[in-house]
Amino acid sequence: MLSIIEIKNVGKRYNITGRKRGYVALRDVISEKLKHPLSALAGIGRNIMGTNRMETFWALRNINLSVKKGEAVGIIGANGAGKSTLLKILSRITPPTEGEVRLNGRVASLLEVGTGFHPELSGRENVFLNGAILGMTRKEIGEKFNAIVDFSGIGDFIDTPVKRYSTGMYVRLAFSIAAHIEPDILLVDEVLAVGDAEFQKKCLGKMEEVTGKAGRTILFVSHNMSAVEKLCPTSILLSHGKIVKAGETRDVIRHYLAAEYEKSSGHEKLFPLKLKGEVTLHDFAVSQKNIRTAHLDADTPFTVEIDFEAHANLSLFRAGVYLKNALGDVLTRSFTSDWQPELERVAKGRYQATLLFPEKLLMPGNYFVSLSLNRFSVMNYLAKHTIEKTVTVGPSAYFNQAHPAEKPEGKIFIKNRWTLKLVSDQNKQSDES
Ligand SMILES: Nc1ncnc2c1ncn2[C@@H]1O[C@H](COP(=O)(O)OP(=O)(O)O)[C@@H](O)[C@H]1O
Ligand SMILES: [Mg+2]
Repeated sequence: MLSIIEIKNVGKRYNITGRKRGYVALRDVISEKLKHPLSALAGIGRNIMGTNRMETFWALRNINLSVKKGEAVGIIGANGAGKSTLLKILSRITPPTEGEVRLNGRVASLLEVGTGFHPELSGRENVFLNGAILGMTRKEIGEKFNAIVDFSGIGDFIDTPVKRYSTGMYVRLAFSIAAHIEPDILLVDEVLAVGDAEFQKKCLGKMEEVTGKAGRTILFVSHNMSAVEKLCPTSILLSHGKIVKAGETRDVIRHYLAAEYEKSSGHEKLFPLKLKGEVTLHDFAVSQKNIRTAHLDADTPFTVEIDFEAHANLSLFRAGVYLKNALGDVLTRSFTSDWQPELERVAKGRYQATLLFPEKLLMPGNYFVSLSLNRFSVMNYLAKHTIEKTVTVGPSAYFNQAHPAEKPEGKIFIKNRWTLKLVSDQNKQSDES
């Protein structure tokens, strides 16, 4: 069968100013263009060439992929792997530096929040702007307008500038536009990471419907492995701009998680890590039954240990962790001084901080345990380092096993049991009457 997306040897090189200043974000380029259509290019040139020394690097290299009509393909990979860049190239927001892309159909994309929306324009104006970018005529958009607004649930806010929208409203409107223009190819980048669970479900449902019934093609970028597995039979894994694995989604995910673990256990090489001359980090570990592990048994407590050294007497000091879900949302955080304000002062010396997490805390799934070392509003020792462990929590042996097909819902277990008390015995009553 003819492929609807054909990507041949695609590469993207970015010019960046000194990394400290970050890069020119796509949305800035777009809004700049809309504000000053003629001078935009000159302006961007100035930003890049500016005062800082110019560097270039390849965000994508040697990408080859062909996707058939009706396929749903997952794209996974760590932050910075090049996933968004690939989708931007496919949506023609940015051109590839080398290689070729062939798309045999109309493309709609849901990229990062805000891409393609102009903040000063109202929702209504943005619907028309977006529609036009996606190749629809004014008449076509006009016919679908009411349906788009209804589905989005934006209501009267449709005439408010979108800069006043919450993230959720932004995404609702963007999704609604994409869902209504009946594209042949739908590109979806991480939008499921924002918005509430209900909205995420609505999106997934819509996408399933779109590939299933309508035979449309989807490329789906997500950190939510279960969503990727549910929607996409095959996936590709990007790492540092290259496709390092492609095939059945289940295998690709397994490969990815194994690689992530390698990476997170690779921190050991960093230690001892000297931070701002005040603190040295000697070790950071997640263990269960005194064994360091990335696979946690749900029915056993686990510990997090931080081994650090203070080179001076420190005030306002906190060591601790953020616990995040696979999407990177913070589920909770815990610092040494949370329940013990006296621990905000640490005398010069070497310390081992240990926190015990109870058993039956987390539902099965993937989580991040992310280290934090800071002095409250004075100093973030890890501003330049991400020290994070990836952990996978297995199923609880005690949770009702009668329905193996039932997937875990949510993240947190409620360990307590229900009581069920008979308050009126229907059998007895009917006997008596
Ligand atoms: N406009 C840009 N200018 C310079 N560098 C960029 C630009 N956009 C993205 N990058 C860089 O390209 C790499 C890939 O980014 P991206 O495609 O956003 O990754 P992902 O979506 O997988 O997190 C990152 O190192 C990012 O910092
Ligand atoms: Mg991205």
